[in-house]
Amino acid sequence: MQNSHSPQPPLPILPINTISTPKDSKTALYIILAASLLSLFFFFSLSSSPSPTSPTLTRPDPFLFPHRQINNVLVTNTDPSSDPTPPSIAYLISGSAGDSGRILRLLFASYHPRNHYLLHLDLTAPQTDRDALALAVQSVSIFKAAQNVDVIGKADFAYTKGSSIISSTLHGASILLRLSQNWDWFVNLNAADYPLVTQDDLLHILSFLPKHLNFLNHSSYIGWREFRRLRTIIVDPGLYLSEKTAMFYATQKRELPNAFQLFTGSSFSILSRNFIEFCILGTDNFPRTLLMYLSNTPSSFSNYFPTVLCNSHKYNRTVINHNLLYATFDKPSNEEPRLLSSNDYEAMIQSGAAFATRFQLDDPVLDRIDQEILGRSSGSIVPGGWCVGESGNHTCSVWGDASVLRPGLGARRLEKRIVESLSNGTYQSHQCIVG
Ligand SMILES: *[C@@H]1O[C@H](CO)[C@@H](O)[C@H](O)[C@H]1NC(C)=O
Ligand SMILES: *[C@@H]1O[C@H](CO)[C@@H](O)[C@H](O)[C@H]1NC(C)=O
Ligand SMILES: *[C@@H]1O[C@H](CO)[C@@H](O)[C@H](O)[C@H]1NC(C)=O
Ligand SMILES: *[C@@H]1O[C@H](CO)[C@@H](O)[C@H](O)[C@H]1NC(C)=O
Repeated sequence: MQNSHSPQPPLPILPINTISTPKDSKTALYIILAASLLSLFFFFSLSSSPSPTSPTLTRPDPFLFPHRQINNVLVTNTDPSSDPTPPSIAYLISGSAGDSGRILRLLFASYHPRNHYLLHLDLTAPQTDRDALALAVQSVSIFKAAQNVDVIGKADFAYTKGSSIISSTLHGASILLRLSQNWDWFVNLNAADYPLVTQDDLLHILSFLPKHLNFLNHSSYIGWREFRRLRTIIVDPGLYLSEKTAMFYATQKRELPNAFQLFTGSSFSILSRNFIEFCILGTDNFPRTLLMYLSNTPSSFSNYFPTVLCNSHKYNRTVINHNLLYATFDKPSNEEPRLLSSNDYEAMIQSGAAFATRFQLDDPVLDRIDQEILGRSSGSIVPGGWCVGESGNHTCSVWGDASVLRPGLGARRLEKRIVESLSNGTYQSHQCIVG
């Protein structure tokens, strides 16, 4: 699968090109163009006069990663401080038509140079929106310096009521696996989500946890509504039609599986890199078999990861039955959590969750979270230990070592939440229970 005509500079984005294995170099260029801000640069430097900034783009800024080896794989912490080396998170941030603004705001609010970000504007949005998103990302100097934000150029349909969202999420995860060797956890965010802690808080707390843990709501209890839903047969148009169309429902019902135990859960999760590799690259066939089985099940994304995890002998003991996301439902039977507003602020913070959902575009409660929790002013990036500029709105325009974290009160709340989940056996007694 090596691409023999790969251009000279070792752009970190090339794997996207390899994945799509285009036949002619014209489509290849087009895909690269749309796929990444870095590649946009690359394209411009080929087609017009050479850009003076392009040579600096071949490697992340050494001020941010002073301990990182040139090959991008070895990260050694020579600091004699007692804190463990901070981990790194791979974020897939997805949205639909009209979500560019929310995606960018969420990116700014959850940004850290150590992490990796892949933005996916699904096929319900026009290609011009995707290009505009890539250009907006490209204009932010820290993203360029850290080389850790990419935009998917060849988008997928991602119907939450069907199964195409499973395939689009696995697509994003597989690109992230190729883009970076360094990340430890995979988090799939939706444009309607928002962080309740800074990335310094989250990375600080995660640095004390074993890297094989998976945070995922799951249950083998299938109530009557679930039962009805899981026996329904659908065909998701996102898997085979090129334009937006309604879901196809078959009149027949089918039996529940008995070759494995089905689990339900939540679509948001924090999954270990090992487990993601098991789902995408593993030699065990169950993740693929289940993928095909669920392709005809409505809203099956919330079944996929819990069922793979709990049916695997290797991973069933790595799960914590809490996804660290705050969500509330008007009725337990509702599929979508209700919209959060300023009235939910206190409960949200008290929950100790790392993220919350669902928020409307630019809801006032987001401004309050920015101000009181994230210390972020509008249009700027959430500050962290890596920001060493003058205080005010420009602290992050000058940067230093990205492994320096400055956790705050959010880290305390999150720590309390996780300690509760792990304390006195509640952790094991809630793992993949069948019954
Ligand atoms: C995990 O799988 C093993 C092996 O099948 C089984 O013995 C164990 O009970 C499972 N653990 C949980 C928590 O499901
Ligand atoms: C996930 O599980 C936790 C702990 O059981 C619960 O508090 C939370 O409401 C659940 N979230 C969802 C979305 O069901
Ligand atoms: C920071 O920006 C906000 C709005 O963008 C503005 O209201 C505020 O005065 C600025 N603060 C400083 C210190 O420049
Ligand atoms: C676990 O400990 C917490 C307090 O630390 C307590 O509230 C809870 O009841 C305990 N749960 C069990 C199952 O012992």
